Amino acid sequence: MKILITGANGQLGTSIQSLSLWYPEFDFIFTDVAQLDITKLEQVKAFFSLHKPDYCVNAAAYTQVDKAEEDIALNNLINITGPKNLAIASNQYNSKLIHISSDYVYNNDSKDIMNEDSPTLPKGVYAESKLKGEIEVQDGTEQYYIIRTSWLYSEYGNNFVKTMLSLGNKLESIRVVDDQIGSPTYATDLAEAILQIITLNNDKYGLYNYSNEGFISWYDFAVEIFKIRNIDCKVSPIPSADYPTKAPRPLNSRMSKEKISSVFGIKIPGWKSSLEDCLRKIH
Ligand SMILES: NC(=O)c1ccc[n+]([C@@H]2O[C@H](COP(=O)([O-])OP(=O)(O)OC[C@H]3O[C@@H](n4cnc5c(N)ncnc54)[C@H](OP(=O)(O)O)[C@@H]3O)[C@@H](O)[C@H]2O)c1
Repeated sequence: MKILITGANGQLGTSIQSLSLWYPEFDFIFTDVAQLDITKLEQVKAFFSLHKPDYCVNAAAYTQVDKAEEDIALNNLINITGPKNLAIASNQYNSKLIHISSDYVYNNDSKDIMNEDSPTLPKGVYAESKLKGEIEVQDGTEQYYIIRTSWLYSEYGNNFVKTMLSLGNKLESIRVVDDQIGSPTYATDLAEAILQIITLNNDKYGLYNYSNEGFISWYDFAVEIFKIRNIDCKVSPIPSADYPTKAPRPLNSRMSKEKISSVFGIKIPGWKSSLEDCLRKIH
């Protein structure tokens, strides 16, 4: 099978590249914006026409949540028009589209654990664009998998884990919010889940949640990062109100992964063991 990866130099894309060595049966085509700009429909169509991928994994996105509040046009172009173009081309060339979305689409003020049928109420430019991107995918093709993930981190790029390591080694104390609850997602685990879905090739299209198991706060996450790394930096819990951001953050990002586990038999690692795996790779 031929598998096209867009945004292949990002956290998720690079994690798929690393794992691709273990999947010699797949013919991967890795692209980032220089090779395939997902916002350009004619380019996307020409690429699909030439390569005719069996699957397209859209790991491309505008991911700077706060900057998006000012960079609205570019954010929407990448997060709404991009997936729309991929859906049109996937439909035309009979490719299956795996699109990545976000826990930010829920933000529905409920205290429940969210499943895929829970109401969506995205707040902020990025969050709204992720929901609109999903709708474009659903409108554009029937053969889609949309995976909503949360708190993505990896040994690549910029993320919370790397920020904590850098601050923890510089400062004696930091303050981290403790009232936003969710699950971190190690990008390698998400990449494995995606490759398992492709391997099964069972056409169980639809919407799926994916994150590591266990619910924690950002404060808990920071404490564990420092504990594993023996970093002597005091972490103080603070409410979100004391750490204002341009774009609102959901307080409840707890997602059920029951559906993806049962439909594809995916075993989801707990957040602590995955954090240990990732930290072993960051020197
Ligand atoms: N990071 C998180 O905490 C988080 C949480 C929930 C969901 N997600 C979702 O998970 C997915 C993967 O996130 P990530 O953290 O791996 O993202 P990332 O590291 O920011 O990577 C995104 C990649 O897309 C590329 N890109 C931007 N515009 C493009 C275009 N027009 N055409 C093709 N490629 C383009 C970027 O290139 P440049 O760097 O050159 O712009 C970058 O390499 C995204 O859909 C994101 O919304 C992320």
